[in-house]
Amino acid sequence: MPDSTDSDVRSEAVQRRRMTVALVLSAALLGVAAVVIGAVTGGDAEAGSSTPTDGATTPSATGTATPRAAPAAPPAPAAVDTFDRNAHSLDDPASIWVVVNRDRALNPIDYVPDDLVDVPVAHTWDPQLRQEASAALVSMFEAAANEAGLYLASNSAYRSYDTQVGLYGDGSDPTTAPPGHSEHQTGLGIDIGTEGGCTFECMEDSPEGQWLRDNAYRFGFLLRYPADKVDVTGYPHEAWHYRYIGAELATRMRETGYTTLEEFFELTG
Ligand code: DAL
Ligand code: ZN
Repeated sequence: MPDSTDSDVRSEAVQRRRMTVALVLSAALLGVAAVVIGAVTGGDAEAGSSTPTDGATTPSATGTATPRAAPAAPPAPAAVDTFDRNAHSLDDPASIWVVVNRDRALNPIDYVPDDLVDVPVAHTWDPQLRQEASAALVSMFEAAANEAGLYLASNSAYRSYDTQVGLYGDGSDPTTAPPGHSEHQTGLGIDIGTEGGCTFECMEDSPEGQWLRDNAYRFGFLLRYPADKVDVTGYPHEAWHYRYIGAELATRMRETGYTTLEEFFELTG
């Protein structure tokens, strides 16, 4: 074997330098690759942990995925109460919400509605009501017949101031309002019986009376003098006397459990 020459030594040194450079470059490339992979996977190469994202699971300290609570549902929008208690006057005798009782007289006291019409329903005395109330009453009588096979009749609807004077007499009848204080004078009040001849007290236990108690509100009528509200209305129970107040108010009272206008509109006491 020949001894190593100077040129052999130089060439060996060159090769070592080349290998060193190659190793350094490789290490540098591996470092760059690690950083790129960490960025793509969201990992933290140094700590070996990851930052929670908006995924469905959150890695735990042990590396196992645990379910995350579902995001809270946004609160339901509050129900908007669109009922307007001031939509109609309680004092104007021509208002469908006018409140008339022993303490609240009509003004003027001899008020006469200007839109009275003859009501085309079965009756004992010729009935008149204000136009809107008449149409609602016809619908209600038709519904009683069509839905339940029950036949209603009008006993007494509009009564003038003078008619009420005659009925009131000496005021000894607790069920008759003083003149100027009767809902009948508004053209919105009506005494309802049956075609079969039931008129007053018998309405309490009749199927017709029960149907009215359950359904009158749909047509805008209110049983005006309930048995348990004598102290509020000032009148004994009248299972036959209904008052037109419009379906909006009648339904509202039904939904909220109010049975008298005085309580609903806070006019008691
Ligand atoms: N019966 C009712 C109260 C009236 O006379 O108006
Ligand atoms: Zn009546």
